[in-house]
Amino acid sequence: MVCLGNICRSPLAEGILESKVEKNVVFVDSAGTGGWHIGELPDHRSIEVARNHRIDITNQRCRKFQAADFDDFDFIYVMDRSNFNDVMSMVRNEEDTYKVRLILDEISSNQLEVPDPYYGGDNGFEQVFQLLNEACSVIADKIVK
Ligand code: 4NP
Repeated sequence: MVCLGNICRSPLAEGILESKVEKNVVFVDSAGTGGWHIGELPDHRSIEVARNHRIDITNQRCRKFQAADFDDFDFIYVMDRSNFNDVMSMVRNEEDTYKVRLILDEISSNQLEVPDPYYGGDNGFEQVFQLLNEACSVIADKIVK
């Protein structure tokens, strides 16, 4: 799960997908394309909205996306087109490119983006949660089959 800061959207995506799969079968992680918050906890608003839905994301610490992630993961879900372009600029071969997907492509064919709630109000975080929850249900169904 990849976003820009790895403190708002992708930590929620990580926590939500993890809550829907068997921990010892599927490894879920998140990262940011930007490096401003490395080592930090998720944004308190993401922690809060996750907690409202009984998901604890306080074990997470921000890290930066790196090329080695193409080796370590089968799927790389990005939140918006800007993340998509940033991750695609790091691919090393054709196989890497096939792994990268807009996460909302799982629930829509309109190339929708998960809006960045960082500069918005608290309500943006609940909206992001709902979008990611829907997409992660589809992903969880797919990867356990
Ligand atoms: P995220 O939101 O990509 O959903 O984690 C952001 C968090 C921090 C910043 C940008 C976006 N920032 O510029 O620090």
